[in-house]
Amino acid sequence: MRILILGPQGSGKGTQAKRIAAQRSLPHVATGDNLRAAVADGSELGRRVQPILERGDLVPDDLMIDLIRDRLDREDAFVLDGFPRTLPQAEALDAMLAEIGKPLDAVLLLEVDDEVAVGRLEARAAEEGRTDDSPEVIANRLRLYHQLTEPVVERYRAKGMLLPVDGEGTMDEVAEEIAVALENVGVASR
Ligand code: AP5
Ligand code: MG
Repeated sequence: MRILILGPQGSGKGTQAKRIAAQRSLPHVATGDNLRAAVADGSELGRRVQPILERGDLVPDDLMIDLIRDRLDREDAFVLDGFPRTLPQAEALDAMLAEIGKPLDAVLLLEVDDEVAVGRLEARAAEEGRTDDSPEVIANRLRLYHQLTEPVVERYRAKGMLLPVDGEGTMDEVAEEIAVALENVGVASR
Protein backbone atom coordinates (compact mmCIF):
# COMPACT_ATOMS: atom_id res chain seq x y z
CA MET A 1 0.00 0.00 0.00
CA ARG A 2 1.32 3.43 -0.98
CA ILE A 3 0.00 6.43 0.93
CA LEU A 4 0.98 10.08 0.52
CA ILE A 5 0.30 12.47 3.39
CA LEU A 6 0.07 16.21 2.68
CA GLY A 7 -0.58 19.19 4.93
CA PRO A 8 1.02 22.37 6.20
CA GLN A 9 3.90 22.47 8.64
CA GLY A 10 2.58 21.46 12.04
CA SER A 11 -0.52 19.74 10.66
CA GLY A 12 0.66 16.42 12.10
CA LYS A 13 2.02 14.68 8.98
CA GLY A 14 4.92 13.11 10.86
CA THR A 15 2.77 12.20 13.86
CA GLN A 16 0.08 10.50 11.79
CA ALA A 17 2.44 8.99 9.20
CA LYS A 18 4.33 7.21 12.01
CA ARG A 19 1.06 5.76 13.32
CA ILE A 20 -0.10 4.59 9.89
CA ALA A 21 3.34 3.09 9.24
CA ALA A 22 3.34 1.24 12.57
CA GLN A 23 -0.23 -0.07 12.21
CA ARG A 24 0.30 -1.30 8.68
CA SER A 25 3.99 -2.27 8.88
CA LEU A 26 4.99 0.23 6.21
CA PRO A 27 8.20 2.23 5.98
CA HIS A 28 7.73 5.93 6.87
CA VAL A 29 9.57 7.84 4.18
CA ALA A 30 10.01 11.37 5.57
CA THR A 31 12.21 13.71 3.56
CA GLY A 32 12.59 16.21 6.40
CA ASP A 33 13.78 13.46 8.78
CA ASN A 34 16.22 12.21 6.13
CA LEU A 35 17.62 15.69 5.57
CA ARG A 36 17.99 16.35 9.32
CA ALA A 37 19.80 13.00 9.68
CA ALA A 38 22.18 14.03 6.89
CA VAL A 39 22.86 17.32 8.70
CA ALA A 40 23.50 15.45 11.96
CA ASP A 41 25.91 13.08 10.16
CA GLY A 42 27.82 15.99 8.66
CA SER A 43 27.66 14.31 5.22
CA GLU A 44 28.20 16.28 2.03
CA LEU A 45 24.43 16.34 1.51
CA GLY A 46 23.97 17.52 5.10
CA ARG A 47 26.45 20.37 4.70
CA ARG A 48 24.73 21.45 1.52
CA VAL A 49 21.19 21.48 2.92
CA GLN A 50 21.84 22.72 6.47
CA PRO A 51 21.58 26.47 5.68
CA ILE A 52 18.47 25.83 3.57
CA LEU A 53 16.71 24.00 6.42
CA GLU A 54 17.73 26.68 8.92
CA ARG A 55 16.13 29.38 6.76
CA GLY A 56 13.02 27.27 6.21
CA ASP A 57 13.56 27.42 2.45
CA LEU A 58 13.06 24.48 0.12
CA VAL A 59 15.89 22.22 -1.02
CA PRO A 60 16.21 22.39 -4.85
CA ASP A 61 13.78 20.15 -6.74
CA ASP A 62 16.46 18.21 -8.68
CA LEU A 63 18.24 17.20 -5.49
CA MET A 64 14.99 16.13 -3.77
CA ILE A 65 13.78 14.21 -6.83
CA ASP A 66 17.07 12.25 -7.03
CA LEU A 67 16.88 11.44 -3.31
CA ILE A 68 13.30 10.22 -3.44
CA ARG A 69 13.82 8.22 -6.63
CA ASP A 70 16.65 6.27 -4.99
CA ARG A 71 14.47 5.56 -1.98
CA LEU A 72 11.20 4.65 -3.69
CA ASP A 73 12.96 2.36 -6.13
CA ARG A 74 13.72 0.19 -3.10
CA GLU A 75 10.21 0.21 -1.54
CA ASP A 76 7.07 -1.55 -2.72
CA ALA A 77 4.89 0.13 -0.12
CA PHE A 78 5.35 3.25 1.99
CA VAL A 79 3.85 6.23 3.77
CA LEU A 80 5.39 9.27 2.10
CA ASP A 81 5.66 12.47 4.20
CA GLY A 82 7.30 15.73 3.08
CA PHE A 83 7.44 15.07 -0.64
CA PRO A 84 6.20 16.38 -3.06
CA ARG A 85 6.21 20.03 -2.03
CA THR A 86 6.25 21.68 -5.47
CA LEU A 87 4.53 20.97 -8.78
CA PRO A 88 7.77 19.80 -10.46
CA GLN A 89 8.27 17.35 -7.55
CA ALA A 90 4.67 16.10 -7.91
CA GLU A 91 5.07 15.61 -11.65
CA ALA A 92 8.33 13.75 -11.10
CA LEU A 93 6.77 11.55 -8.40
CA ASP A 94 3.79 10.61 -10.56
CA ALA A 95 6.09 9.85 -13.51
CA MET A 96 8.51 7.74 -11.48
CA LEU A 97 5.73 5.75 -9.79
CA ALA A 98 4.05 5.13 -13.16
CA GLU A 99 7.39 4.01 -14.59
CA ILE A 100 7.97 1.45 -11.86
CA GLY A 101 4.30 0.42 -11.76
CA LYS A 102 3.70 1.51 -8.17
CA PRO A 103 0.86 4.09 -8.22
CA LEU A 104 -0.38 5.81 -5.05
CA ASP A 105 -3.40 4.21 -3.34
CA ALA A 106 -4.40 7.29 -1.34
CA VAL A 107 -3.45 10.94 -0.87
CA LEU A 108 -4.38 12.30 2.56
CA LEU A 109 -4.57 16.02 3.31
CA LEU A 110 -4.44 17.15 6.96
CA GLU A 111 -6.38 20.41 7.09
CA VAL A 112 -5.23 22.79 9.82
CA ASP A 113 -5.44 26.60 10.03
CA ASP A 114 -2.18 28.53 10.17
CA GLU A 115 -2.84 29.69 13.76
CA VAL A 116 -3.20 26.10 14.98
CA ALA A 117 -0.10 25.04 13.04
CA VAL A 118 1.97 27.92 14.46
CA GLY A 119 0.81 27.12 17.99
CA ARG A 120 1.89 23.49 17.65
CA LEU A 121 5.27 24.37 16.15
CA GLU A 122 5.96 26.90 18.89
CA ALA A 123 5.17 24.24 21.47
CA ARG A 124 7.47 21.79 19.67
CA ALA A 125 10.25 24.43 19.62
CA ALA A 126 10.16 24.45 23.39
CA GLU A 127 10.21 20.63 23.62
CA GLU A 128 12.50 19.51 20.81
CA GLY A 129 14.45 22.60 19.79
CA ARG A 130 14.19 22.02 16.03
CA THR A 131 16.28 24.83 14.54
CA ASP A 132 13.56 25.74 12.04
CA ASP A 133 10.84 26.27 14.67
CA SER A 134 11.61 29.95 15.38
CA PRO A 135 8.73 32.39 14.63
CA GLU A 136 10.41 33.94 11.54
CA VAL A 137 11.34 30.57 10.04
CA ILE A 138 7.88 29.10 10.76
CA ALA A 139 6.35 32.08 8.91
CA ASN A 140 8.64 31.48 5.92
CA ARG A 141 7.82 27.74 5.83
CA LEU A 142 4.06 28.39 5.92
CA ARG A 143 4.39 31.08 3.25
CA LEU A 144 6.18 28.60 0.97
CA TYR A 145 3.51 25.98 1.72
CA HIS A 146 0.74 28.30 0.54
CA GLN A 147 2.70 29.45 -2.48
CA LEU A 148 4.29 26.22 -3.72
CA THR A 149 2.69 23.21 -2.01
CA GLU A 150 -1.01 24.14 -2.19
CA PRO A 151 -0.84 23.74 -6.00
CA VAL A 152 0.31 20.16 -5.32
CA VAL A 153 -2.81 19.64 -3.15
CA GLU A 154 -4.97 21.03 -5.96
CA ARG A 155 -3.26 18.71 -8.47
CA TYR A 156 -4.29 15.62 -6.49
CA ARG A 157 -7.76 17.06 -5.82
CA ALA A 158 -8.25 17.56 -9.57
CA LYS A 159 -7.21 13.95 -10.15
CA GLY A 160 -9.94 12.87 -7.69
CA MET A 161 -7.34 11.31 -5.40
CA LEU A 162 -7.44 13.71 -2.43
CA LEU A 163 -8.84 12.59 0.94
CA PRO A 164 -9.17 15.72 3.10
CA VAL A 165 -9.18 15.10 6.86
CA ASP A 166 -9.82 17.58 9.68
CA GLY A 167 -6.39 17.82 11.31
CA GLU A 168 -7.42 20.02 14.23
CA GLY A 169 -8.75 17.34 16.57
CA THR A 170 -6.67 15.40 19.08
CA MET A 171 -4.06 13.00 17.71
CA ASP A 172 -6.45 10.07 18.31
CA GLU A 173 -9.37 11.85 16.63
CA VAL A 174 -7.27 12.63 13.56
CA ALA A 175 -6.00 9.03 13.44
CA GLU A 176 -9.60 7.78 13.53
CA GLU A 177 -10.65 10.14 10.70
CA ILE A 178 -7.72 8.91 8.64
CA ALA A 179 -8.71 5.27 9.24
CA VAL A 180 -12.28 6.03 8.10
CA ALA A 181 -11.07 7.96 5.02
CA LEU A 182 -8.80 5.08 4.00
CA GLU A 183 -11.53 2.50 4.54
CA ASN A 184 -13.91 4.57 2.40
CA VAL A 185 -11.56 4.26 -0.56
CA GLY A 186 -11.07 0.58 0.03
CA VAL A 187 -7.60 0.74 1.54
CA ALA A 188 -7.69 -2.19 3.95
CA SER A 189 -7.86 -1.20 7.61
CA ARG A 190 -5.31 -1.90 10.35
P1 AP5 B 1 9.75 18.61 7.29
O1 AP5 B 1 10.53 17.89 8.31
O2 AP5 B 1 8.92 17.85 6.36
O3 AP5 B 1 8.94 19.68 8.07
P2 AP5 B 1 7.57 20.43 7.79
O4 AP5 B 1 6.93 20.22 6.48
O5 AP5 B 1 7.91 21.81 8.13
O6 AP5 B 1 6.55 19.78 8.71
P3 AP5 B 1 6.69 19.50 10.21
O7 AP5 B 1 7.53 18.29 10.38
O8 AP5 B 1 7.10 20.74 10.91
O9 AP5 B 1 5.19 19.25 10.58
P4 AP5 B 1 4.32 17.92 10.54
O10 AP5 B 1 3.14 18.15 9.66
O11 AP5 B 1 5.15 16.71 10.28
O12 AP5 B 1 3.75 17.89 12.00
P5 AP5 B 1 4.20 17.03 13.28
O13 AP5 B 1 3.58 15.70 13.22
O14 AP5 B 1 5.67 17.13 13.46
O15 AP5 B 1 10.76 19.50 6.42
C1 AP5 B 1 11.78 20.27 7.02
C2 AP5 B 1 12.57 21.02 5.97
O16 AP5 B 1 13.22 20.08 5.09
C3 AP5 B 1 11.77 21.91 5.03
O17 AP5 B 1 11.52 23.17 5.60
C4 AP5 B 1 12.70 21.98 3.81
O18 AP5 B 1 13.77 22.86 4.06
C5 AP5 B 1 13.27 20.58 3.77
N1 AP5 B 1 12.50 19.67 2.92
C6 AP5 B 1 11.86 18.53 3.31
N2 AP5 B 1 11.25 17.94 2.28
C7 AP5 B 1 11.49 18.72 1.20
C8 AP5 B 1 11.08 18.67 -0.17
N3 AP5 B 1 10.30 17.68 -0.62
N4 AP5 B 1 11.49 19.67 -0.99
C9 AP5 B 1 12.27 20.67 -0.55
N5 AP5 B 1 12.68 20.79 0.73
C10 AP5 B 1 12.29 19.82 1.60
O19 AP5 B 1 3.45 17.85 14.41
C11 AP5 B 1 3.89 19.13 14.80
C12 AP5 B 1 3.77 19.28 16.31
O20 AP5 B 1 2.40 19.23 16.67
C13 AP5 B 1 4.46 18.15 17.09
O21 AP5 B 1 5.03 18.67 18.26
C14 AP5 B 1 3.31 17.18 17.41
O22 AP5 B 1 3.54 16.47 18.59
C15 AP5 B 1 2.13 18.13 17.54
N6 AP5 B 1 0.85 17.54 17.10
C16 AP5 B 1 0.66 16.72 16.03
N7 AP5 B 1 -0.62 16.39 15.90
C17 AP5 B 1 -1.28 17.03 16.91
C18 AP5 B 1 -2.66 17.09 17.31
N8 AP5 B 1 -3.63 16.43 16.66
N9 AP5 B 1 -2.97 17.86 18.37
C19 AP5 B 1 -2.01 18.54 19.04
N10 AP5 B 1 -0.69 18.52 18.73
C20 AP5 B 1 -0.33 17.77 17.67
MG1 MG C 1 7.20 16.34 9.90
